[in-house]
Amino acid sequence: MNKAKRNFILVGNWKMHPDTREEAKALFAPILKAAKAAQETTVVIAPPAPFIHDLTGKEPVHISAQDVSEHAEGAFTGSVSARELKSAGAEYTIVGHSERRAAGDTDAIVAKKVAEALRAGLRVIVCIGESERDAHAQYLRSIREQIVGILSAVDKKLARWITIAYEPVWVIGKSYDTSLKPADIHEMVIYIRKVAAEVLGKNAGLKVPVLYGGSVDFEHAKTMLADSAADGLLIGRQSLDPKAFSSIIEYADSL
Ligand code: PGA
Repeated sequence: MNKAKRNFILVGNWKMHPDTREEAKALFAPILKAAKAAQETTVVIAPPAPFIHDLTGKEPVHISAQDVSEHAEGAFTGSVSARELKSAGAEYTIVGHSERRAAGDTDAIVAKKVAEALRAGLRVIVCIGESERDAHAQYLRSIREQIVGILSAVDKKLARWITIAYEPVWVIGKSYDTSLKPADIHEMVIYIRKVAAEVLGKNAGLKVPVLYGGSVDFEHAKTMLADSAADGLLIGRQSLDPKAFSSIIEYADSL
């Protein structure tokens, strides 16, 4: 019997790379090629904000911002609003990445950003994750608090535009061998969906796509996609390596 085909979401978070528009376009071209060859895989690239406009409109790759202001408009020097990002061509925004949380974003600010982005018509990839793992599973409580805090503030009618990215903070940007095992991710994905269902109702909550992120390279991506129940991956460093990222797209599409 044929196994049901899985439709994965792969998000490449370029962070503050590369330096120039030309380099961004050169990095993007092979990824676009791999995304075009894929049938069932959604590819999202989150470039630095100044490059968003250059990279939009190139189907089937979707463009995401890496962050958004919690305010709709006003005297907030240096901030970029959800409507401005949408006007530049972004379809998604990442919110609550641990690197933004380290720079001051609290759960309350993240919740406001999510609500503001949804109101402006952006899809939201909201990052959650514990900063450390303890033997008494306190980290599960912190994950629950993050999900409840964010999703409770969301207009339920817009909840279908949310994707949750589970990114354990202690794993991001580390050696690829520190990455979680598929069984650990599987357990977390089920837990996240369960908590989401408590807030959004069973129907909407169990449908929220849950991605895994944190030190994913091609080898780990393969087992994670095959065995973890995650709906996809949020990839940092390896999304700046077009060959590695394209291989991940190709593999995801083969499952
Ligand atoms: P990494 O980054 O894959 O380089 O660990 C992941 C992230 O920060 O989203």
